[in-house]
Amino acid sequence: MSQPVLTQSKGAEFTRIYSYGAARGDLVVPNSELVEAIDSSDEWIQQRTGIITRTRASAGLLAIDLATEAAQEAIAKSGIRPDQIDLVVIGTISNVQQTPSMAAIVADRVGANPAAAYDSNAACAGFSYALTQADALIRSGAAHYALVIGAEKLSDIIDPTDRSISFLLADGAGAVIVGPSDTPGIGAPVWGSDGSKGDAVGMNGTLIDYRDHGAPWPTLRQEGQTVFRWAVWEMAKMAKQALDVAGVTAADLAAFVPHQANMRIIDELAKQLDLPDSVKIGRDIATTGNTSAASIPLATHRLLQENPELSGGLLLQIGFGAGLVFGAQVVRLP
Ligand SMILES: CC(C)(COP(=O)(O)OP(=O)(O)OC[C@H]1O[C@@H](n2cnc3c(N)ncnc32)[C@H](O)[C@@H]1OP(=O)(O)O)[C@@H](O)C(=O)NCCC(=O)NCCS
Repeated sequence: MSQPVLTQSKGAEFTRIYSYGAARGDLVVPNSELVEAIDSSDEWIQQRTGIITRTRASAGLLAIDLATEAAQEAIAKSGIRPDQIDLVVIGTISNVQQTPSMAAIVADRVGANPAAAYDSNAACAGFSYALTQADALIRSGAAHYALVIGAEKLSDIIDPTDRSISFLLADGAGAVIVGPSDTPGIGAPVWGSDGSKGDAVGMNGTLIDYRDHGAPWPTLRQEGQTVFRWAVWEMAKMAKQALDVAGVTAADLAAFVPHQANMRIIDELAKQLDLPDSVKIGRDIATTGNTSAASIPLATHRLLQENPELSGGLLLQIGFGAGLVFGAQVVRLP
């Protein structure tokens, strides 16, 4: 007896980003508000990180609210209806409720119910990872239009007396709509991780330690210099690889947006990539701070707003963070 033939799906040949949306925390927090608790100074923070102020969200404003706001802007600008979205992926490490996922709630809030929806934890590479998933799922035929978001309220998981990372961190969400395209719009990813160095940056404890062993509320910590060196040396190589696999060179780029972790890291990466002066560089960190998975779409949104002529050009983006996870790709700007 002949076996029935199984049908496997096949989707669009190419994909692209249709639009961006952004939402930052409602509070502007200057360095002067944070320095006393960490025995630091406005001057030190500006010199060593480039951060002048960061945006944080007030108590009643959650990461999921920021995600919804960013998503609504991206949908409004995309030219597609919310009910055409059949996939929602949110890169996040700071959902205060483990389940349901932020993505399922946001899908419903924006009118994309019953889209497939899930959160994805790749720390500061979260947006790059989520975009890679959306691209692959649309090209496989598993989805048609995707809402991809990076959303964080990191102020919930910081210790104001910690000098290693807390003063860098901020709250925000950035979103894009991804869909089919006649021409290639999302380059192949260069992505990976090194969990053997998981201690370099991450949470300093678990919820079980907190509940059962009198440990403090878990917060983010890092070995600043270890992460700094890795970000500068290893990530420059990965960014170059992302150009290679996309078949383009630095001279072909219109923009470069690395994860907004430290202005010195951004400058060093730009130097190592030998970017021509014409390439606009995302420097949103100066007034937004480090928003982990949200930082790349937020910085790109601002770059497009301030330089509308970038539209249609190529952007190289690279995210990197906890788990020593990284993700880079070249995309065509909407
Ligand atoms: C955290 C970071 C800003 C620290 O800057 P740095 O230049 O590496 O600072 P160092 O740790 O070398 O310390 C230099 C000096 O500043 C002091 N210092 C460290 N943190 C300080 C702070 N928050 N405020 C004031 N002084 C500080 C140190 O004690 C040290 O003093 P000393 O020279 O008298 O010993 C930087 O390492 C960094 O950005 N790391 C990577 C962040 C990143 O990419 N994270 C990715 C995951 S989100």
